[in-house]
Amino acid sequence: EIGAIIFDLDGVITDTAEYHYLAWKQLAEELGVHFDRTFNERLKGVSRMDSLHMILDHGGLVLSEHEMNELAHKKNEHYKSFIQQITPNDLLPGILPFLNEIKAAEIPTALASASKNARPVVRQLKIESFLDTIVDAAAVKHGKPDPEIFLKAADQLAVNPEECVGVEDAEAGVESIKAAGMYAVGVGSKNAMAKADWIIDHPSQLTLKALRGHLG
Ligand code: G6P
Ligand code: MG
Repeated sequence: EIGAIIFDLDGVITDTAEYHYLAWKQLAEELGVHFDRTFNERLKGVSRMDSLHMILDHGGLVLSEHEMNELAHKKNEHYKSFIQQITPNDLLPGILPFLNEIKAAEIPTALASASKNARPVVRQLKIESFLDTIVDAAAVKHGKPDPEIFLKAADQLAVNPEECVGVEDAEAGVESIKAAGMYAVGVGSKNAMAKADWIIDHPSQLTLKALRGHLG
């Protein structure tokens, strides 16, 4: 039986992964660093500062801490201008029916997001009532791929990690779920989601029936 379902936010519940991509791309181009979707896959699920470090490394740039803080701030301002417009219409197709199904089945749910913007996004999507707990970047010491964020969510729900299902669109996120000893659903390409237990192209494929079928 499914003890709990723990969701990533960006790229699973809503398409903010695209906004992170656009915001990083603009910043990278201003820095003269080549940036494409392949490289962006590696940034998914990764904290703001770690992402910036990876972009700078990629471009062979070394900057002061002060400059890095300014760039991270700039990226976030750009990102915040995108997320201002989010409404419940921005829930990815299939997510609201799945959340309703989970609620009706009384399965505990959590959000495990590496984003410091997770709470405002959840509020704008109007899905607070579907989530029993939210663990965001501010609540953990170690980001994905470390298992801390998913383990903390399970702990807050008082459910054994082995009974939890995690849903992710990031390589780092799938690694975090697996390191936590949970079942991983990966949303995305077979390549990027190779380590997931069940790979789907799109969140609309999420139903309890399909999930139970895969859990066996
Ligand atoms: C999520 C996204 C990442 C993003 C990170 C931090 O994990 O997948 O792309 O870098 O959150 O987001 P933040 O809103 O705190 O900059
Ligand atoms: Mg994500």
